[in-house]
Amino acid sequence: MASTAPIQPSKLTSIKKLSESPNLNSIPSNYAYYNDPHDICASEPQDSIPTIDISLLTSGNPDHKSKAIQDLNKACEEWGFFMVINHGIPESLMKAMLEVTSEFFNLPEEEKPKFEPKDVLEPIRYGTSFNTAKEKVFCWRDFLKVFVHPEFHSPHKPNALRELLLEYRERTQNLVRKLARGISESLGLEEYEMEKTLNLNSSLQIFIANYYPPCPQPQLALGMPPHSDHGLFTLLIENQVGGLQIQHKGEWLNVNPLPNSILVNTGDHLEIFSNGKYKSVLHRAAVNNKNTRISIAMANGPSPDTIVCPASKLVDNEGCVPAYIPMEYTEYLFSQQNNLLNGKSTLDLVKIKDN
Ligand code: OGA
Ligand code: NI
Repeated sequence: MASTAPIQPSKLTSIKKLSESPNLNSIPSNYAYYNDPHDICASEPQDSIPTIDISLLTSGNPDHKSKAIQDLNKACEEWGFFMVINHGIPESLMKAMLEVTSEFFNLPEEEKPKFEPKDVLEPIRYGTSFNTAKEKVFCWRDFLKVFVHPEFHSPHKPNALRELLLEYRERTQNLVRKLARGISESLGLEEYEMEKTLNLNSSLQIFIANYYPPCPQPQLALGMPPHSDHGLFTLLIENQVGGLQIQHKGEWLNVNPLPNSILVNTGDHLEIFSNGKYKSVLHRAAVNNKNTRISIAMANGPSPDTIVCPASKLVDNEGCVPAYIPMEYTEYLFSQQNNLLNGKSTLDLVKIKDN
C-alpha cells in the first residue's frame, strides 16, 4: 500500500479536513514520514514509568517529602518523564478541558482564529503540522497554541473556553510551583532557587491543543516527529486513545497513562538550568486508523525575557564548567518554533561542544 500524490503546499488544509475527505485510503506522499513501517514500532515499557505522588511534597511530613524529592531526582535523571498523581487538578476540569478542545476543532473554520498565521510567536495560533513554511513532510496533526501566562489570551469560541483556560492555568501553575520546588531541591539547590532564578512568577505558559484524526496509513505517518520540548516541563493530558511514545535507553516505548494522572516531561530549559544533569526527553506522537486523539500539553518555561544559563551553584560548587551558553528564553522559543521539529536540534545551538 503506497502513499498517493503529494499535496501542493498552497493547497494545504487542516488535517481534520483532509482526514474527512471521502474514500481516503492512503496518505499524500508528503505526509509519509517513514517508508518502512518498522520505523514506527515501539514496545511496552518493561520497567514501569515512574509515578510521583505530588501531595507528598507538601504533606508536612519530612520523610515523605524527602522520599518524593528522591523520586523526582531519579525520574528526571533516568527517564525525563513521569506520571503525577494527587496533583490537585480536578478530574472534572481535565475532562472539561478535553471536551472544550474537541469543540474547538469541530467549530466551522470561519469561527476559528486565522489558519496558519505567519508569526510563529503569535499569542493565539491555529494551524496544522508544526511549521509548514519550512517542512517538506507534514505531521498528521492540527494544533491550537495559546499564550496564557504571564499575559492571558484566549480564542472567543467555544464560549466556555476562556473560563476553563483561566481555571486550568491557575491549577497547573500551582502544580508547576510544586514541581519547581521539588526539582530544585532534588538538584541540591535551595527550594526556591529555580523559581527565583528563572522568574517563574512571570513564567511563559503555553496551552497547546493537539488534534490527531484517524489516519488511513498510521504506520507511515506521525502526529509529531521525535522532539524535545523547549520549556522546563510540559504537563500533558489526553483522551485515552494513546499514541505518545518516549525514548528511553535508546528504545521507543508506548506510554499508557494511569487514568487521571498527568504526564510530565522534562524540557530543554531544565536540561540547561541543571547543566545537563536532567536531560530533556525525546518523544513523538504516533497516530492510528480508528479514533481521533486529542492531547493538551501545557508548556511551562522561564519568564520570556530571562536569560537562561546553568544554575551557578551547579557550576561553581561542583567543579563543573557550564555546558550551555546563555540565551534569552524568547529567542530560544522563536528559534525552535521557526525551524523544523527535529530531535534536539534547537538545544544544539546553545550546547558547548567540547564538554
Ligand atoms: C507536544 C507533544 C505529544 C502528544 O505537544 O509537544 O509532544 O502526545 N505532544 O500529543
Ligand atoms: Ni512535545
